[in-house]
Amino acid sequence: MSIQIAPSILSADYANLESELHRITEADWVHVDVMDNHFVPNLTWGLPVVERIAQVSPLPLDTHLMIDNADRWAPQYAEAGSHSVTFHAEATQAPVRLARELRRQGARAGIALRPATGIEPYLDLLPEFDMVLIMTVEPGFGGQSFIESMVHKIRRTRAAIDANQLDVWVQVDGGISEKTIDQAADAGANVFVAGSAVFNAEDIPAQITTLRSLAQDHYCAHSSRPSAGHNEPHPPHHVK
Ligand code: DX5
Ligand code: ZN
Repeated sequence: MSIQIAPSILSADYANLESELHRITEADWVHVDVMDNHFVPNLTWGLPVVERIAQVSPLPLDTHLMIDNADRWAPQYAEAGSHSVTFHAEATQAPVRLARELRRQGARAGIALRPATGIEPYLDLLPEFDMVLIMTVEPGFGGQSFIESMVHKIRRTRAAIDANQLDVWVQVDGGISEKTIDQAADAGANVFVAGSAVFNAEDIPAQITTLRSLAQDHYCAHSSRPSAGHNEPHPPHHVK
């Protein structure tokens, strides 16, 4: 399971999104935060903008829906060209049905948990998902501090995935930087969202390389994951 770096364009320059996308080509994904001002107290963009980003992005879209009524809206974000669509557990009535629909559309299906939502009710459902997103801040804004108590949830999630020999990615989002990525990787996360840590860096490609190498070192250091080698190739950008 390789390390994936997904810069969040929540911290990009919204007036120049296309050129911002070309500054992060060292990464594996572009993380696109959709907020509706209901599920979270912030508003970003909707379907037409995401569709346009998908058309011009050199990287596949990792779309993170922080919106109510995910059952109704999430499939449209797959249709808009997202290679991965993550909806919140707290915003769906039927997570299995929704994940199956996203996969049927050819997208990867992710389920996200707010800090106060436990992984335990979802453990039996893990085979239905391609990714679990463990929020390491309260969703809604960039630039917040990593909530260290989430490390235990990351560890329990990875342990359940490994115990069942599942190929499910564990993503962390919120406060990920060169100071915190080691803890998340050591606990078993392999997909790292970083907004402010990437877009506020002076040298963005170098920052992405630094984050990737810190994550690799700490993910591989975990004894139960001997196969996660440094030389593992990155997956093709177009995974759909
Ligand atoms: C926050 C978003 C994040 C945000 C992370 O709710 O889901 O993707 O961009 O920003 P940083 O990396 O600055 O904490
Ligand atoms: Zn996000």
